[in-house]
Amino acid sequence: MKPKIFLTRTLHDFALKELKKKFQVEIHKGKIPIPQNILKSKIKNSDGLICFPYDKINKDVIQCAEKLKVISTYSVGYDHIDLEFAKERRIRVGYTPEVLTDATADLAFGLLLDSLRRISEGDRIIRKGKWKQIYGAHDYVGFDLQGKTLGIMGLGRIGKTLAKRAKAFDMEIIYHNRKKIPEKEEKKLGIKYVTFDKLISKSDIISIHVPHTAETNQIFNMKVFKKMKKTAFLINTSRGKVVNEKDLVTALKQKIIAGAGLDVFEIEPIKKNHPFMKLENIVLAPHIGSSTKETRIKMAELTVKNLINGINGKKPIYSVGY
Ligand code: DGY
Repeated sequence: MKPKIFLTRTLHDFALKELKKKFQVEIHKGKIPIPQNILKSKIKNSDGLICFPYDKINKDVIQCAEKLKVISTYSVGYDHIDLEFAKERRIRVGYTPEVLTDATADLAFGLLLDSLRRISEGDRIIRKGKWKQIYGAHDYVGFDLQGKTLGIMGLGRIGKTLAKRAKAFDMEIIYHNRKKIPEKEEKKLGIKYVTFDKLISKSDIISIHVPHTAETNQIFNMKVFKKMKKTAFLINTSRGKVVNEKDLVTALKQKIIAGAGLDVFEIEPIKKNHPFMKLENIVLAPHIGSSTKETRIKMAELTVKNLINGINGKKPIYSVGY
């Protein structure tokens, strides 16, 4: 009997083909995200699970699993999985870093560029038929990137790659991280370590690249926005919950900060009547950090490899926890 695996959503054909050679494969076809009761009943007899960032793989779900060996998430983030409990049950957890670094850094830079040059806002103006005057001295003016200070919050793979992008645009780069990186690497990247307080007060643009944990939950809140420059922009491609959205709405409305570019939100998808919808000084993206054709293929390959390793009793290629 082939081991049983369950996918909470489908993947590319090549990945399914590979999986079907080795396993009995079942794919959830209904409501996305999969309702918890269905997930619990499916995980019961599965040897492997492939899941996505919006699935809640919490203790309640994991304890229904009677023979699960591995959880393989199609994401770099794993805050949706109870790692401690998975470890307790000796269930391996695989994830997909590295392959999505460039795509996510590109998107962060894209949001930065769009926010400062008001591209999406201009697109809305044209589509609404409101482009009346041309080339006025004060029309649709944004900001130069050159010479601006980019503050990178969290210097992991994506943060470092963003630094390279920003360097090519002649920006000054400072960063804050739990650990300062070696000076040699700082020099190579052309970046400087600063405290969190310095990062928020000195940056013209802050880009967030930290995972969502108890420590980072809503670290960007009104107290922080008030310490930022009035002309500053906030970019977030990490997790929505690191920002207090209610405070951000107030900060944008009252021009406490100048603007924001977000790819992630406290609750996704955001509701039609979310206050962000009424603001012009925000660029919104539907959680597409890793969403390029090439990257999504590489993520699928890695998700499958991680799963196969776990089922065979080995560590996933990229593994967290046990
Ligand atoms: C991930 O993989 O966790 C990212 O959020 C996808 O963009």
